[in-house]
Amino acid sequence: MHRKIVTIAMALGMILAMLAGAGCTQRQDQKAQNKPKPGAPFVPSPQFVVDKMLEMAQIKKDDLLYDLGCGDGRIVVTAAKKYGCKAVGFDINPDRVKESLENVRKNQVQHLVKIVQQDIFELDLSKPDVITLYLLPEVNEKLIPQLENLKPGSRIVSHDFGLGSFEPDEIVYIKSPDRKSSRLIYLWTTPLKKEAPLKKDGMK
Ligand SMILES: C[S@@+](CC[C@H](N)C(=O)[O-])C[C@H]1O[C@@H](n2cnc3c(N)ncnc32)[C@H](O)[C@@H]1O
Repeated sequence: MHRKIVTIAMALGMILAMLAGAGCTQRQDQKAQNKPKPGAPFVPSPQFVVDKMLEMAQIKKDDLLYDLGCGDGRIVVTAAKKYGCKAVGFDINPDRVKESLENVRKNQVQHLVKIVQQDIFELDLSKPDVITLYLLPEVNEKLIPQLENLKPGSRIVSHDFGLGSFEPDEIVYIKSPDRKSSRLIYLWTTPLKKEAPLKKDGMK
């Protein structure tokens, strides 16, 4: 119960932080594009979260990773540099795509990383082995039909938010190096499994 309250409070805090932190950028971005509204504003995952997400996904060199909403490309760049795997970052926002491409170039991982400007809701997810997400709860939920097309044994890692009623294999609560903040990271392995419904006595 206590854990549930902490999780809800963190999710609310995160949404507020995302909206506050990214408000200006998002307004400018939408004005510039006048395109479909992005499903989540740009708030980068801190590097300690990126490192843990990739560790939890147990990435192998021959994996293909997709970051859905890649922001400045930090997840795909880190995956390529640290694990030598191929990675594709998708973002709807041309400014983010530009930043990601610059990040890829700066880190010299062009041979492993592609950045694509595309709406994540249009993606075919039958090829990647690993999906990383830092979106919003309702956006994660909207992605479920696509995530169900992942190959068996694929891993999905999400920063801070769950995936509807699908039961994660693991939830890690991680503190920042300065111990001033904390995040949740969820891991699922496909095929996705529904949470067992609660029995009348409250037990699964
Ligand atoms: C919270 S940021 C996460 C960035 C990065 N994945 C990270 O963890 O640091 C969410 C990103 O998703 C992008 N985004 C939102 N809706 C999208 C959509 N429908 N298609 C593609 N990208 C989208 C935003 O532009 C933003 O860069």
